[in-house]
Amino acid sequence: MVGGTPLSGEVTVTGAKNSVLKLMAASMLAVGTTTLRAVPDILDVEIMAELLRRLGCTVDHRHRAGTVDITVPEDLEHRADYDLVRRMRASICVLGPLLARCGAADVALPGGDNIGSRGLDMHIDGLQRMGADVVNEHGYLLAASAGRLQGASIWLDFPSVGATETILMAAVTASGTTVIDNAAREPEIVDICTMLTAMGAIIDGIGTSTITIDGVDDLVAVEHTTVGDRIVAGTWAIAAAMTQGDIIVRRANAEHLTIALDKLQTAGAIVTCLDDGFRVQMDRRPRAVDIVTLPYPGFPTDLQPQFIALNAISEGAALVTENLFEARFRFVQELARLGANVRTDGHHALVRGRSTLSAAPVEATDIRAGAGLVLAGLVAEGTTTVYGVSHIDRGYAGFIPALQSLGADITRAEG
Ligand code: UD1
Repeated sequence: MVGGTPLSGEVTVTGAKNSVLKLMAASMLAVGTTTLRAVPDILDVEIMAELLRRLGCTVDHRHRAGTVDITVPEDLEHRADYDLVRRMRASICVLGPLLARCGAADVALPGGDNIGSRGLDMHIDGLQRMGADVVNEHGYLLAASAGRLQGASIWLDFPSVGATETILMAAVTASGTTVIDNAAREPEIVDICTMLTAMGAIIDGIGTSTITIDGVDDLVAVEHTTVGDRIVAGTWAIAAAMTQGDIIVRRANAEHLTIALDKLQTAGAIVTCLDDGFRVQMDRRPRAVDIVTLPYPGFPTDLQPQFIALNAISEGAALVTENLFEARFRFVQELARLGANVRTDGHHALVRGRSTLSAAPVEATDIRAGAGLVLAGLVAEGTTTVYGVSHIDRGYAGFIPALQSLGADITRAEG
């Protein structure tokens, strides 16, 4: 790509990767056909579809329509093998539904993004409190319950998105009441709770830190439209600010990005809320802005690399604090290849803005780092090549065509 063109025009965001993968897993809780809409055409959806097929489901993914039909049989397999799970950490979200449906789940320890240790202790502890035996053997989590899982009171040490989802999906058909305290409040958690409720689950406190679930005997398959991807929407917002452009982002909910959009305004952008999204305009070089990543509604860690890229070309200096994934700053080494001035110390990064970046070959190491590097390349002088684009494909549907439609001088090399 050749940097220097302000991006302008409209983009429409599809459903959220971090929701749809869990919705696909949740579909296994009901026999019959679940239909999911606004499904993004991304690699992780393919991986999850393949995983569900191996577990005995039929998955019909109609790409262009953005619809996935998942037909779930009475009897499911309960083993999720390493060859698929290692490609995507979100595979762990089959653990709860499989245990609930089959009384057993053998799930390979996941791989996925290279952004830190990403423990599973809270998932395991939650299921154990519900009466399951969970052991870690030969690279697999082996979970089993004699009879139905039992409702329990579970306090999470940290509002983990994944642990909240695992416990939720195990609890909806458990016997009795489960209370999750210090639960995650992300819009993707609200989305899965909305779908589970439509399926017949009884859930109280959706979107708050205390979720109460009264277990029911059976759930039914439903149709559900995936919540819009706030991280993709936020990436477009940052792209507009960085390139001094003007982007209208459709099918996005500005309320899901309150802090990120507020930070962009502090950086000098004009943000306007629209009925079905928002518009970000920028007519000056951004000012550097401090950010601190935190669980929702805090600033999302998944927008941190993109924001470091913005700070790298801003006026002044900013401190970025990463509280979720310790290795997320690895991408800074790649950004430095474009001339960015970033010093990291533990979970802090001090970014001193430069008036220009200079194009270079760089390597994407995870989805969001990849997006951050593309944004940096779009403002760097000269031709930047980003390697490892397959990482970006995992989270951004049609990223490069969308950038082209906004005026970016970018192409994808074959092979
Ligand atoms: C999800 C998102 C990811 C996002 C993250 C935080 C998906 C597929 N991924 O990841 O894009 O960056 O939320 O918003 O939805 N932890 C433990 N023990 C546990 C669980 C988590 O120590 O049992 C730690 C993790 O190592 C990490 C932190 O808690 O440091 C946050 O993890 P969590 O909220 O669970 O994130 P994920 O569900 O993995």
